[in-house]
Amino acid sequence: MADMDGFKEATNFGIGQEVKTSSVELKGTANMGWGMKNRLSRIFNPKSGRTVMLAFDHGFIMGPTSGLERIDLTIVPLMQYADCLMCTRGILQTTIPAGVNKPVCLRSDAGSTILTELNRNLLIDVEDAIRINASAMAVMMSAGDGDQEAITVANLVKAADMGARYGIPVMGVTAVGKQMARDSRYFALASRVCAENGANIVKTYYCDGFEKVAASCPVPVVIAGGKKLPELEALELCYNAINDGAAGVDMGRNVFQSDKPEAMIQAVYGVVHDSLTPQQAYELYQDLK
Ligand code: 5RP
Repeated sequence: MADMDGFKEATNFGIGQEVKTSSVELKGTANMGWGMKNRLSRIFNPKSGRTVMLAFDHGFIMGPTSGLERIDLTIVPLMQYADCLMCTRGILQTTIPAGVNKPVCLRSDAGSTILTELNRNLLIDVEDAIRINASAMAVMMSAGDGDQEAITVANLVKAADMGARYGIPVMGVTAVGKQMARDSRYFALASRVCAENGANIVKTYYCDGFEKVAASCPVPVVIAGGKKLPELEALELCYNAINDGAAGVDMGRNVFQSDKPEAMIQAVYGVVHDSLTPQQAYELYQDLK
């Protein structure tokens, strides 16, 4: 029982003062619980509602990709500039200092390597995501792939069920089947299917007509960078995506394969959070480089 001696009467009720609510309400979060919202607010900057996620999960199917041979040397110095880290548990546990104060979007599915066709995609145990203190779980969804579509939708649904139980958001990652046209019709379908099946964030690719992809997806959409482009083009890609409704980027190769990754990630940050034009961001890249 608290000591009641010297009990001070409560008087400061702020009568007449408006109750403040959070600054930016992320798309699709109005009916979410506190844990989910809290984790999302670690990923998406609460002021801009946007994020720069640094993706370096490529090794889970590709092995030691260029730029990711030694993550301790190439990625760890970049982490300070990212809003969120997207990687596998293997890299997290072996290479990323546990003291890093960055949210993690954990690659939570696994499958075959690039040496074979995608097959039998499966999920890691949600308990591992909790142990790792993941702020989100990333799971692939392969729309239009006859062998994989149903398996990957089932994985996404399972991840969303587990995520809902523990308050961990799920990011649906739209994998593009080889036969699929990379157009707004396809990406809008794939993104919407992810959200309808419980994804709280969708990661997809930029394309002409991207505004339709973003508008018809009821949760925030972030774009992957895709193959390495010249720096100015990569910054134009970010700018166009943000302009067309993306809530940020989840970018890998265009950052860590850049001539100057540290300068590049800061330039990307400038486009996403500070509304820099591609040219301004490119100048920043050159100054920092
Ligand atoms: C693959 C992924 C990768 O993380 C993604 O492709 C981002 O990297 P990049 O910008 O290099 O494309 O999710 O499924």
